[in-house]
Amino acid sequence: MNVAGNVYLTGVISRLIDAGVNSADMDILLKNGALMLGVTAFTLAFGILASRMAGVVSSGLGNHLRLAMMEQLCLFTASDVDHFTRASFINRMTADVGNVQNMVNIIFSTLLTAVLNIIFILAASVNMDSRLSSILLIAVPLFSVTSVIIVRFAIPYFKKKAQNDDALSRIVLEDLVNMRLIKAFVREEYEDGIYRKAAGEARNNALKAEQITNNSNPLQQLIVNFCVVMLLWFGGHRILAGELQIGELFAFITYINQILYQISLISMFTIPMVSCMVSVRRVCEVIEKEPALSDAREDTGESIADGSIDFDGVYFDYSADTARENMLLQNLNLHIKSGESIGIVGATGSGKSSMIYLLPRLFDIPVGTIRIGGADISRVPLKKLRESIAFATQKSILFSGTIAENLRQGKPDATEEEMIEACRKACIYDFISGSADGFAMRLSEGGSNVSGGQRQRLCLARAFIKESPVLVMDDCTSALDKATEKAVIDHITGSFSGRTKILISSKISSIRRMDRIVVLDKGQIVGIGSHEELFASSEIYRDLCISQGEARNAG
Ligand SMILES: Nc1ncnc2c1ncn2[C@@H]1O[C@H](COP(=O)(O)OP(=O)(O)OP(=O)(O)O)[C@@H](O)[C@H]1O
Ligand SMILES: [Mg+2]
Repeated sequence: MNVAGNVYLTGVISRLIDAGVNSADMDILLKNGALMLGVTAFTLAFGILASRMAGVVSSGLGNHLRLAMMEQLCLFTASDVDHFTRASFINRMTADVGNVQNMVNIIFSTLLTAVLNIIFILAASVNMDSRLSSILLIAVPLFSVTSVIIVRFAIPYFKKKAQNDDALSRIVLEDLVNMRLIKAFVREEYEDGIYRKAAGEARNNALKAEQITNNSNPLQQLIVNFCVVMLLWFGGHRILAGELQIGELFAFITYINQILYQISLISMFTIPMVSCMVSVRRVCEVIEKEPALSDAREDTGESIADGSIDFDGVYFDYSADTARENMLLQNLNLHIKSGESIGIVGATGSGKSSMIYLLPRLFDIPVGTIRIGGADISRVPLKKLRESIAFATQKSILFSGTIAENLRQGKPDATEEEMIEACRKACIYDFISGSADGFAMRLSEGGSNVSGGQRQRLCLARAFIKESPVLVMDDCTSALDKATEKAVIDHITGSFSGRTKILISSKISSIRRMDRIVVLDKGQIVGIGSHEELFASSEIYRDLCISQGEARNAG
């Protein structure tokens, strides 16, 4: 509406010149003046409305894209995120979505109006004088073709620049996480050098992209100026021949100036537009990526009856195209009764953590079947499956927030008594009750304001509090002193009756009192039995015991 108003105004001015000023008719002057005031107010109101709507549309779209990407992130496995890299994922969710949001705002508030203006001006000029307007009709396609060519040349550099930005974020992310290590190894200069090199590449690609897009400005200016000269030349001749009014030539010059203004508006946004095209592609790549794990969303009728676990002929490798005989985990067959306590032991790198990651389907298996509570885990909805397993992972991960908030990730409605009990069992309650804030003590990012051993015990407490039939603890006593570790193991063996307990450790002292122990060697189960049985029957287990100074009889 405001576009139509603007173009209409030019027509009114033209009529004023030809009819009002030439004949000095006051009545026409007043009438057209009032009309111009009305049209100006009308275009202003619609201009404000258009920019408000642009804000609503762009912020709504930005929010929608962020939520869609977050939804994908929740479905992604670690390998899906690795496909993009963490830094690139963050950039796509923040900078790229921001680019798209800004551009959509610009499109609706400015560019759409500019394009509509050009169309309306062309229509009005054809209506006024079709012969003279052919000059304008040639200019617009010429301008469009040059823009398309320039954009095609610039896009590869904007793509490279986006990759450079990912590399820069990755370096910053790594440096922030490993700040202490960098200082301890005096690597500041080296890291600074890596960043400078990446930043230099980003600058070069940005420079090339901008140089190409900036070429469009003088080129488009040249086309428009050429049109003005042609208009004056042919228009002047037609006025002399009495075929055209001065007001009409004035309107044409105004039209070409308006087109020039709209074109310069469009070319001002060429760089953000091309950069936005690259961002749209990067955002779509995330949204369209099929997660490596497919969730059994519809109810397949499978339900987890208890904490029994069965591995039947399971093979697994992190790489999808490894031949079966070279896979990391090979032919795992293991049957765990509900409520049983199981220790998994083996040399470092033997595949203990990998085996246990398969239970909550952090990775899918190419061969074999895993059942929990009698249900094939590939047929149980992921939410249900993961609710049935409490996991204290090898890497102790806490979130920023209070201790209570972290514990309630295990059980959202946990009472203070339940939290105290879980923390007592994890031997961390003395630390919590001794701190001024108790359960309200704030943990900083990653729990970096507590010690490694305290982190491990908080993670254990979070797993203990979760009411699930299966409790998995992966090497989560490694940072504890011997006395504390013994106290924690005593609680693990003496509590949680009815829950299936799986404790992984490379230390025999941690797992020797479990009902049964599974010995893993190079991805294969080489022994299953109690400590005494294995000491007698398994050479690998016996060697492990001897190397760790563990006696045959359980103590
Ligand atoms: N995300 C991964 N991608 C590719 N390979 C991996 C990945 N995680 C582990 N591996 C490889 O799988 C093998 C087994 O690793 P895993 O973590 O299961 O061993 P582990 O028995 O738990 O060792 P540790 O006692 O040191 O914790 C190792 O050789 C490791 O290099
Ligand atoms: Mg491990």
